[in-house]
Amino acid sequence: MTKKNTVYDCNILPLNKVHNRAGNITIIEGGNDVPFPIKRIYYLYDIPTGETRGGHAHKELYQLIVAASGSFDVLLDDGKNKKIVTLNRPDYALMVVPGIWRELFEFSSGAICLVLASDVYQTEDYIRDYQEFKKYRQ
Ligand code: TYD
Repeated sequence: MTKKNTVYDCNILPLNKVHNRAGNITIIEGGNDVPFPIKRIYYLYDIPTGETRGGHAHKELYQLIVAASGSFDVLLDDGKNKKIVTLNRPDYALMVVPGIWRELFEFSSGAICLVLASDVYQTEDYIRDYQEFKKYRQ
């Protein structure tokens, strides 16, 4: 099932934004705004210029990735098709479905990459070797 997912199943999900004179707020509620239950939240920050993060695929995990601050690019790869998505707005999320190799790069200074995940951290869910990923997708 997950092996059938393609990069075209990874879409941008517009989030809400409540404008205020004193600033904006975006609210993400599990079950309402996200199409999976949120079991884990983590964020990447203090990323040195030129660094690449990710470089793995998940077998079962769903993720929403948000540029909470700054910008970065996400390379998505299903073993056949590739696409690069630029994230640069805190009110837009990128949905990454299971079975997709991803790499995050071109982080702007001060960028914060917020990730909402459908499960807790499980090492068994990771494919960290690209050749193994290619085999998994065949
Ligand atoms: P890693 O998955 O390599 O980060 P990225 O894919 O963003 O480059 O994780 C970096 C380290 O953090 C690694 O030692 C595993 C650990 N980690 C956890 O312990 N729990 C988590 O939920 C995540 C995402 C990472």
